[in-house]
Amino acid sequence: MRKKIVAGNWKMNKNLQEGVALAKELDAILADEKVNCDVIIATPFIHLATVAAAVNTAKLGVAAENCADHEKGAYTGEVSAEMVKSTGAQYVILGHSERRAYYGETPEMLKTKVELALAQGLTPIFCIGEVLEERKAGKHFDVVKEQVEKSLFGLSAEDFGKIILAYEPVWAIGTGETATPEQAEEIHAYIRSVIAGKYGQAVADNCSILYGGSCKPSNAKELFANPDVDGGLIGGASLKAEDFMGIVRAW
Ligand code: PGA
Repeated sequence: MRKKIVAGNWKMNKNLQEGVALAKELDAILADEKVNCDVIIATPFIHLATVAAAVNTAKLGVAAENCADHEKGAYTGEVSAEMVKSTGAQYVILGHSERRAYYGETPEMLKTKVELALAQGLTPIFCIGEVLEERKAGKHFDVVKEQVEKSLFGLSAEDFGKIILAYEPVWAIGTGETATPEQAEEIHAYIRSVIAGKYGQAVADNCSILYGGSCKPSNAKELFANPDVDGGLIGGASLKAEDFMGIVRAW
């Protein structure tokens, strides 16, 4: 059956020393504690190699927060999927709403990034979600459907099976406002039905769909209690070991 996952997204927080310290703190906790889900941390690029070498990546997965939409070459400042893979990282977040909104990432670019990541054996954590105006207009179902169709539905069923999805309503990210458990379940179930329509029920049933947006220790349990919510992608609350572990322990 599909995996339960709690993934932290550090975004542009923590310098190298602070990041390594947090990773080691989590690693030490996870060495002693049996948890009921996969645990992943997504760190800035410059942390990846050091963090991946400092932790047991079988218990604490390591993810990049992005990768380039080109394989290699004259793209100053970019980091390729192959480079991410060579650090020891196993995952890459793609399509985060901040990347879409602030860096102009289009569904077409994201399609390419997903393909390049998969070609390197990285597992994409692919983010989708609507902005507030779209939710208010009742368009959130269409928005997430289009996001998965445009960037992911060119994949074979086998490759789609390697993707982790993260539904993150943009209005809930970093705002303290969380989707209600009912809102989360409604759209997660819808996303799964869209996947089933394209790839069949077995592939849909196997796909982990995480919720993201102001998820914290106090609300994780009720969000994760939903049958179609398979874990969380955690921003702010992933920056302290205690908070992050509080969410991991909600499973
Ligand atoms: P947040 O961020 O938990 O701080 O709302 C979630 C995310 O952007 O992945």
